[in-house]
Amino acid sequence: MMNDKLKKRLTRIALLSLIAMIVGGGMAVLETRNTRTQIQNKESSKIAGIEIGGDYTLIDHTGNTSTQDTYKGQYQLIYFGFTACPEICPTELQKMSQALEMVGTPNADKIQSILITIDPVRDTVETLANYVPLFHPRLVGLTGTEDEIDDVIALYRIYAKKVDEPDLNEYTMDHSSYIYLMNPSGELVSIYKTDDNAEYMAEDIASILAKT
Ligand code: NI
Repeated sequence: MMNDKLKKRLTRIALLSLIAMIVGGGMAVLETRNTRTQIQNKESSKIAGIEIGGDYTLIDHTGNTSTQDTYKGQYQLIYFGFTACPEICPTELQKMSQALEMVGTPNADKIQSILITIDPVRDTVETLANYVPLFHPRLVGLTGTEDEIDDVIALYRIYAKKVDEPDLNEYTMDHSSYIYLMNPSGELVSIYKTDDNAEYMAEDIASILAKT
């Protein structure tokens, strides 16, 4: 289940989160120590790293309740981002769709792609409804209360922080950018970073689906 490649990637991601959190400030450093310990413990346990993910109850871009079980039985590509993101999020969402296109039918039909917002105040159901179809006809957008989003961000070990932009009279979000591939049981099976291109993703997804 947990291959060496994924272990290495998780370790790298743990380090990247660590760096991001240290940059985030003093309080964050304390949290970082916990996070790092947890990941290390899991690395040495049999289900190393698989505890990325967990239970949530959110609302989708059509206004329906969506939980971790809504798409159980399908593979899921999950990305955490926000619609006002100028560059990284749209690039990654586009990459997800390109990868699905490359995987092609019938395998791509076994995969549900999901965007979970890290900016629930601005990313309302309506905002998501206007945004997700720009990337893929089947892309689902999920939002919730600030508390609900905080919880799901923690479960999936995402770093996300509001950053004020004084010039723009608006805020932006500083955040980690990982695409998670979960299997039909809801377990993490692969992680794609910003420097993994659509071809790499498609090959990796195809090889994982070929084993099932
Ligand atoms: Ni972004």
